[in-house]
Amino acid sequence: MRTSRPSLRVRLTALLAGAAAAGALLVAGTSAAHAAGTPLRDLAAARGKVIGTAVTGSRLTGAYADIAGGQFGSLTPGNAMKWGSVEPSRGTYDWAEADQIVAFAQAHDQQVRGHTLVWHSQNPTWLTNGNWTPAQLSGLLQDHITTEVTRYKGRLAAWDVVNEPFNEDGTYRSTIWYDNLGPDYIAQALTWAHAADPSARLYINDYNVEGVNAKSTALYNLVKSLKDRGVPIDGVGLQAHLILGQVPSTLQQNIQRFADLGVDVAVTELDIRMQLPATDAKLAQQRADYRSVVSACAAVTRCAGVTVWGFTDSDSWIPDVFDGYGAATPYDENYAPKPAYDGIAEALGASVPPPPTDGCTAVYAVTGQWDSGFTGQVTIACSGGSLASWTANWSFGAGQRIAQAWNADCTQSGAAVTCSNASWNGTVPDGGSVTFGFNASWSGSNPVPSVTLG
Ligand code: G3I
Repeated sequence: MRTSRPSLRVRLTALLAGAAAAGALLVAGTSAAHAAGTPLRDLAAARGKVIGTAVTGSRLTGAYADIAGGQFGSLTPGNAMKWGSVEPSRGTYDWAEADQIVAFAQAHDQQVRGHTLVWHSQNPTWLTNGNWTPAQLSGLLQDHITTEVTRYKGRLAAWDVVNEPFNEDGTYRSTIWYDNLGPDYIAQALTWAHAADPSARLYINDYNVEGVNAKSTALYNLVKSLKDRGVPIDGVGLQAHLILGQVPSTLQQNIQRFADLGVDVAVTELDIRMQLPATDAKLAQQRADYRSVVSACAAVTRCAGVTVWGFTDSDSWIPDVFDGYGAATPYDENYAPKPAYDGIAEALGASVPPPPTDGCTAVYAVTGQWDSGFTGQVTIACSGGSLASWTANWSFGAGQRIAQAWNADCTQSGAAVTCSNASWNGTVPDGGSVTFGFNASWSGSNPVPSVTLG
C-alpha cells in the first residue's frame, strides 16, 4: 500500500528526533550509522526494500513514536489485529488499537502488514471454548476474515493470513483449524482474504523456516501446491526469531527457492536474542548477525523487506518467554541505537565504519622464505577487547604478491592487501587469538608491513 506523503511537520519531527538520538549516541558511541543520519527506511527504499517494525499502539508517543515513524517504512501491529484483540466477546469488536496503528502509518507514509488472521494462539476464549461443528467453525472463520480484511481494505500492503501452520518435522500442526477443517483451511482462508481485499499481498508466516530444513520444505511444498491450484498466495513470511551467532547458513538460498516459486518473501519478525548480560562482544556479534539477515534479503529481488519484532529492547517479547535472554532488538531500552542498527544500515548500503577494534592487535611474521617465495602468518589477538568479525589490511612495500591464503579470504589490489575472516574464525574473544597464513612471492627484498585491523 502507498499512502499520501506525511505532513512537513511530521517529517521534521522525525528528523529532529533522529538528530536528538544521534547526539545521544555520539556520547555513547554505539551507532555510527545512526549518527550519519539517513533513516533506515530511506536506505531500504533506495534498494527497493522496506524495513519495518512491530509496534504496540499504546506506546506510539514521544521518542517511541519518533523512531517508529522516522526510521521504519512499515508497521506491523504486534498484537492489535489478532482475533482475541479485535473480537474479545462474540460480536463485540474493539478496533481501537488497530485503527490507531493504521492511522499512524498513514500519517507517516508507512505501509502496514496485517498480523494475523488464522492462528492457534491469542484467539478469544468464546471461540476456543465453544463446541462448534466443522461447518460452524468454517463459517466463523470466514466471517472473521471477511470482517477484518474488509475493514482495512485498500490500506494494508500485506496480510499474514495464516500463522505458524507447521510442526518442526513438517507435518501440520494440530490446531482448532486443522483438527476440524483439515489442511484446506489454509487455501480457504487465503481465498476469503483475497475476496475481501484483492490488493493486499497474502502471506503464510512461520518460524524456524529461515534455513532449508524439514519445516521450510513443507512450507515450500504447500506454497507450490497452492500456486498450482490457483489459490491466491503472494508471499512467505520468515519470522526469524533467531539466537545470537546462529543465522542459518542457508538463509539466502532458502529465500531464493521461495522466490523462484513466484512468491514474495519477507522477513517478518526478526529479533536476535542473547544470554544476558549483553557484552560488547555479544553486541558486535549481533551487529554481524543483523547484517547477515538483512543482506540475505537485499540480495534477492523478490525479498520485499525485513520487519523487526519490536525496535527497542523495552518492547520485546523475549525476556518474558526466554528466561535470562534479551537485548534482541536494534535499540536498547532507552532508545539508544545499538551496533545491530549499524549492521542493518550497512546491509542496506550505508557506509558505516567497522566495529571498534580496541584491545585487539595484528602481528605479521614471515615464517619461511625461499628463492622467490615466502610463507607469512598474521596473528590477531585481543586483550581488553574482542571481535565478532575482522579484516586485516596492509600494504606490501616491495612488490610482494599473495598467491594463496588459508584461514582467511585475502584479496590484493596493487600493493594493498585485505584479508577477512573465514566463516569459522571471525570471533576473537577477550584473551584469545586467531591466526591465518598465506604464501606469497617476493624479489629483491621482503620488508615486513604493519597490519591494521578493521
Ligand atoms: O494485554 C495484556 C495486559 O492487559 C496484561 O496486563 C498482561 C499481563 O501479562 O498481558 C497482556 O497481554 C500480553 C500481550 O502479549 C500484550 O502485551 C500477553 O500476556 C502476552 O502473552 C502477549 O505476548 C505476545 C505473543 O505473541 C503471544 O504469543 C507478544 O506480545 C507478541 O509479540 C507475540 O508475537 C508473536 C507473533 O504474533 C507470532 N510469532 C511469534 C511472536 C512471538 O511470540
